[in-house]
Amino acid sequence: MTTPILDQLTAHCQALRLHRVGPLLPTLLEQAAQQELSYSDFLATVLATEAAAKQEKSQAMRIQMARFPFQKSLDGFDFKAQPSIDPKVIRELATMRFVAHGGNVLFLGPPGVGKTHLSVALGLEACRQGLRVMFMTAAALITTLGKALHENRLEERLKLLTQPKLLIIDEIGYIPIDRQGANLFFQLVSRRYERGAILLTSNQSLGQWGEVFGDPVIAGAILDRLLHHATTVNTKGDSFRLREKRKAGLLKLNSTPGEGPA
Ligand SMILES: Nc1ncnc2c1ncn2[C@@H]1O[C@H](COP(=O)(O)OP(=O)(O)OP(=O)(O)O)[C@@H](O)[C@H]1O
Ligand SMILES: [Mg+2]
Repeated sequence: MTTPILDQLTAHCQALRLHRVGPLLPTLLEQAAQQELSYSDFLATVLATEAAAKQEKSQAMRIQMARFPFQKSLDGFDFKAQPSIDPKVIRELATMRFVAHGGNVLFLGPPGVGKTHLSVALGLEACRQGLRVMFMTAAALITTLGKALHENRLEERLKLLTQPKLLIIDEIGYIPIDRQGANLFFQLVSRRYERGAILLTSNQSLGQWGEVFGDPVIAGAILDRLLHHATTVNTKGDSFRLREKRKAGLLKLNSTPGEGPA
């Protein structure tokens, strides 16, 4: 049922872009009458409804802008299947205190042990807590920086990459990085040092980063900055991806991809 006053209220809601409250007005008014709410309680309900909608919307926007490759949660991570990771450490990281302090996180370990899963889950948590996040693979990051250098826009690109409170760099070590790439990566890490948090994953132990970056001196300088305020999580074990196959006896225990029938 519409009444002139309801039409007027709906029009005000549209003009003020109160998109959640507008269509709910008849219900909210009816509930207020039934529960005999005070003016202040009614107003609080209306404003809380719209505030929740706005928060959901900006959270969804942050998640979209972060460009996660998929969405996985901490709840969906089976800690029993990954005993090398202490759940307490992950729970502490999920508070995002490290982001507030401009600290870093390194997930190291072989393929399929949950490094990207946990990075995405922590990234999503950061978005939920209102933080700006960006997710990139190391390969995409180096390509972007190289392109920016070529186009004389490196400064602009570095500035953009210092804006997110949390920058997630996935898969360091799978693709070799040339001297220019290493140099650009160093510049980025140096810009964010003690200012913006970096969470990165690598299949290579830190001792091998000299080879990953093709230069032990640059790798040393990168690690020096990254590790100054860092939590390092060493993940071990067999690939979760091949677990089902292993269970079915299709792969030998401890086999790595390529060794057995896939
Ligand atoms: N402990 C776990 N509980 C639930 N799912 C897991 C667990 N570990 C891994 N997975 C799942 O296994 C798959 C592989 O994990 P993920 O992509 O995180 O591996 P990774 O360590 O990043 O490997 P890579 O180095 O090859 O990129 C994903 O689908 C992930 O959700
Ligand atoms: Mg991964």
